[in-house]
Amino acid sequence: MRKRTLRELDVRGKRVLVRADFNVPLENGRITDDTRIRAALPTIRELLDRGAAVILCSHLGRPKGRVVEELRLAPVARRLEELLGRPVLALPEVVGEEVERRLADLKPGDVALLENLRFHPGETANDPAFADALARLADCYVNDAFGAAHRAHASVVGVAQRLPAAAGLLLERELEVLGNLLERPRRPFWAVLGGAKVSDKIGVIERLLELCDGLAIGGAMANTLLAARGYSVGRSLYEPDQVEPARRWLERAGDRLLLPVDVVVTERLEPGAESRVVPADAIPPEAMAVDVGPATLAAWRERLQGAGTVFWNGPLGVFEVEPFHRGTFALAEFLAGLDAVTVVGGGDSVAAVRRTGVADRIDHISTGGGASLELLEGKPLPGVEALPDAEVAS
Ligand code: 3PG
Repeated sequence: MRKRTLRELDVRGKRVLVRADFNVPLENGRITDDTRIRAALPTIRELLDRGAAVILCSHLGRPKGRVVEELRLAPVARRLEELLGRPVLALPEVVGEEVERRLADLKPGDVALLENLRFHPGETANDPAFADALARLADCYVNDAFGAAHRAHASVVGVAQRLPAAAGLLLERELEVLGNLLERPRRPFWAVLGGAKVSDKIGVIERLLELCDGLAIGGAMANTLLAARGYSVGRSLYEPDQVEPARRWLERAGDRLLLPVDVVVTERLEPGAESRVVPADAIPPEAMAVDVGPATLAAWRERLQGAGTVFWNGPLGVFEVEPFHRGTFALAEFLAGLDAVTVVGGGDSVAAVRRTGVADRIDHISTGGGASLELLEGKPLPGVEALPDAEVAS
């Protein structure tokens, strides 16, 4: 069932609480990737154009219900001001009298940003009193935080149950693109998964094996599958307790499941460390696999060449440590050149797409990592479920 969208919400002259996902990477207080902030702009602009006052809210990191100075949203407010070209009132707290007093003067066209929602313990607990306090700040609510839609938190679920609510433009678009992958992908439909742990992605691997025409697995996850094949993985990161399910996938999927045929190994996981390429079944006992090798990339290119759709989540190696970024970057470049519907989700894969400069040649860059995987897995997203259904025209 389609959810009510921003277009169906009367916002003129209203205060609209917008849940965004401004959970952006920070280094020494500087935002290193503002994709998620930019992704929220269309909804903010639309609301302002339609005569609303916008009260933005988001989490940042996992401060566990207390104030963590480095996780204040001030850098986000500054970046928003630059991008919107108008002032953003950055509030020092999430809810309470002071916040209500300072929001009292808000006028149509004004933008305010509440402090990090997770500074308050009521957020992750979906505490009713906290949801009430948030709801008191506004006349209606827009959820544009696709990246947090899999969290049943107060600002995602509680508020949606207390105010007239709708999906923002970003949330709407994410649901449409990812929904299409589930319901009518252009075939052949391939997925590429990477990242550290199989255990985080068991559900999604099983679902993708059903949905896709092929699945390629890299990153440390692949080591668990290589171990399931009976290969020795040396000192590589892998999960012995996941070898059994991995064995079942190998049997079930046959040649629809691609693993690395060669890997880059090193003895020290440090920038510039000495490394070499070895066959995937010959990882030396003292070495660890930290990237896919060139033969793997060549083999995967050949299989994915004719794909109609490719979904990618997770890096193929320890891409934050050079030179072990090469496989991940090469995949980003390859996908950008494919004549297929390409969808990339997950912070690290999105960062790789940006750093290789090919973002504008990827069809959809999802702002949700965990959320996109849960959606593909077929799990209901609490943030979407909490929104009212669209009215059906009679
Ligand atoms: C994300 O970065 O995937 C989202 O912002 C959700 O963050 P969380 O995993 O801390 O809930």
